[in-house]
Amino acid sequence: MQPLSPAVPVIPFEASASLAPAPCRVARPGNHTLRVGLVGCGAFARFAAAHYSRLPDVTITAVADVDPAAARRAAADLEAEPLPPDDLLVSPEIDMVYIATPPALHHRQASAALLAGRHVLVEKPLATTLADAEELEALAARRGLVCVANLVERYNPLADVVRRIIDSRILGGLVHGLFINEAADEGLSPRHWFWNRDISGGIFVEHGVHFFDLVAFWLGAGQVVSACRSMRPAVDGEAAVASGAATETGRVSVEEQVFCTCRYAVPCGMTTSGDGSQPPACDPHGGVLFHFEHGFHQPSRMDRQEMRLVFERGELRLFDWVPTHGEIHGLLDDDAVGVLAGMLPGSEVRTVQRYEGDERRMRGRFQSFEATSLVDIGFTLGMNKLEVYGLVVQELAADQIARIRDPGHVRRLTEIDSVASVALACAADQLAMATQ
Ligand SMILES: NC(=O)c1ccc[n+]([C@@H]2O[C@H](COP(=O)([O-])OP(=O)(O)OC[C@H]3O[C@@H](n4cnc5c(N)ncnc54)[C@H](O)[C@@H]3O)[C@@H](O)[C@H]2O)c1
Repeated sequence: MQPLSPAVPVIPFEASASLAPAPCRVARPGNHTLRVGLVGCGAFARFAAAHYSRLPDVTITAVADVDPAAARRAAADLEAEPLPPDDLLVSPEIDMVYIATPPALHHRQASAALLAGRHVLVEKPLATTLADAEELEALAARRGLVCVANLVERYNPLADVVRRIIDSRILGGLVHGLFINEAADEGLSPRHWFWNRDISGGIFVEHGVHFFDLVAFWLGAGQVVSACRSMRPAVDGEAAVASGAATETGRVSVEEQVFCTCRYAVPCGMTTSGDGSQPPACDPHGGVLFHFEHGFHQPSRMDRQEMRLVFERGELRLFDWVPTHGEIHGLLDDDAVGVLAGMLPGSEVRTVQRYEGDERRMRGRFQSFEATSLVDIGFTLGMNKLEVYGLVVQELAADQIARIRDPGHVRRLTEIDSVASVALACAADQLAMATQ
């Protein structure tokens, strides 16, 4: 795993969205400057662009939006030229297009940019269908261009920490995982495109891709084994018609919760006792089951998420959907406590219970082991959510730009990863629709 690039200043989301954006480079692009064009100047684009403009030798030279006011505002904020979207996508004055329009537009706009020879960083999801995502990946590969979705989760330093803990088996093998997302919908009016599946692709596709990608970063490829969803019944009729959510009968409902379980084959060697014995043969009904729940129904101040990984001898929890901190609760011996605390940023160990003599002998999953204590270990990046969010947005862009500058650069996130997240999301979505 490559180290994350050196820290670059981080701008909070609210600040970048509401205040005059931080000044960006004004200078004419030099020979080494990467010229970025921004298509779609909405809420997230403003946040991301403010961070991109701080990357070394990167300048946002042009912006585009179908809403002239949005384009004007971004142009003024970023000191960039406003262009019609279709002109920007093929402009020879642009090296990389950042597409931050609603999901259903991603395939068409990314294709146009790739065909014109531009590199593409597109907001998640890469596309709203697997066929479209695969087509983009193939087109980028044929042309030797970058075309990834903005799947930022795997750029969080805590994603690395968790991967090291899984691989180290310090808490034993991973048994299962759970992600519970109680998301706010306070900022999503009934007219928002988010509720219109024709535009968003549904919750698994629009939002779930982030977490399919994060778990794939830890466990490799997964397979959807079950899925379902639930609808919110009474949405104001007129607004719902505008959002495309109304049915012919006039009864209006929107998808508000989606659940699915995926199986990851990776732990075929992770459930042994670590005594050097051969891993068991891979059982198609074995592996790690990971459950994903996403609901958009909370007031903003109750927005909350938890990722829980259950191991043979403890569990690890991460909080927030851009995780900033977490906890480990587990049975460990003294050496392991020291090793684990050293792996975790800002760790604080609390001994819950100390064991002596025979108390130290324990069993689980038909295996014996010894532990000297039951401990809680808290850990934190020491940054708030928006600071971490800004950091991962910058890290992903810096990684892709490094690839554009040096074809030998090995990226943390590739086109194949971007497609894989859409593949799982579409499989979960189709199964959820079929099991209604
Ligand atoms: N990576 C992340 O963490 C993250 C977070 C939030 C949103 N997103 C993604 O960003 C994208 C945009 O989301 P948002 O919340 O900013 O939406 P938004 O509605 O605030 O912004 C979308 C913008 O696109 C513009 N637009 C619409 N059609 C266009 C077209 N044909 N050409 C040019 N511009 C057009 C709209 O006028 C609007 O300004 C979505 O794909 C969303 O999933 C990603």
